[in-house]
Amino acid sequence: MTQPKIEVLADASTLVQRAAELVVAEAQQAIAQRDRFTIALSGGNTPKPLYEQLAEKDLPWSKVHIFWGDERYVPADHADSNAGMARKAWLDRVPLPAENIHPMATDAADPADAARTHEQHLNAFFGSSSEPGQFPQLDVVLLGIGPDGHTASLFPHTEALQVCDRSITVGNKDGQPRITFTIPILNRARCVIFLVTGENKRTALEQIFAEQANSSQWPARLVQPQDGQLIWLLDQSAGQELTL
Ligand code: 6PG
Repeated sequence: MTQPKIEVLADASTLVQRAAELVVAEAQQAIAQRDRFTIALSGGNTPKPLYEQLAEKDLPWSKVHIFWGDERYVPADHADSNAGMARKAWLDRVPLPAENIHPMATDAADPADAARTHEQHLNAFFGSSSEPGQFPQLDVVLLGIGPDGHTASLFPHTEALQVCDRSITVGNKDGQPRITFTIPILNRARCVIFLVTGENKRTALEQIFAEQANSSQWPARLVQPQDGQLIWLLDQSAGQELTL
């Protein structure tokens, strides 16, 4: 398990610039080594300016493949859709082939069916399975945290935290279904980058980095890539008082 690399940046815009630099570097390395780059995006507000910055970058887009670490269970054109937000901020602004965009389906009557379908899609794409150590391996996974310490759609004290034999499962936010990466696929990634801004994340960060704390209460503690890099980008207001 690798030690986290924590960077505290002056403000949100500096954090976004640093995140864009890291993503581009990872993309260039992945394409040089494997002729493709696979990245899972996070939702919420924090990553939107990052996606806008990435739309300005000059990457070999035909070799870039976009996934999501979680998705709200709403239609793709719904205001809450993570895929919809990323398309507007980034994906619709660059020459990415449509087949390189791999959204989580949210149109099945039963979210569990949607989760299974997406898992099958990932296994076909990555040539992986849900056997331990055979999970899909993404180059980069972008994550955020909520003030409650959730990440992706792995919320405190939910069943999704315990799922270890599948890469995709159904998350539960206050009774609302989400489709989410599970802990094993997150921990298989070559590089996990958390983007955290704002004073309202301080308590969660203290608990996530505490020697002892309840991981079921603070799920982001469970993200500990086996072999990959773990990078936390914090802005001053989130990270200035963090005691490590
Ligand atoms: C989502 C995200 C979620 C997000 C955190 C932080 O679907 O909302 O994937 O895990 O990263 O809730 O959200 P903010 O960036 O808006 O604080």
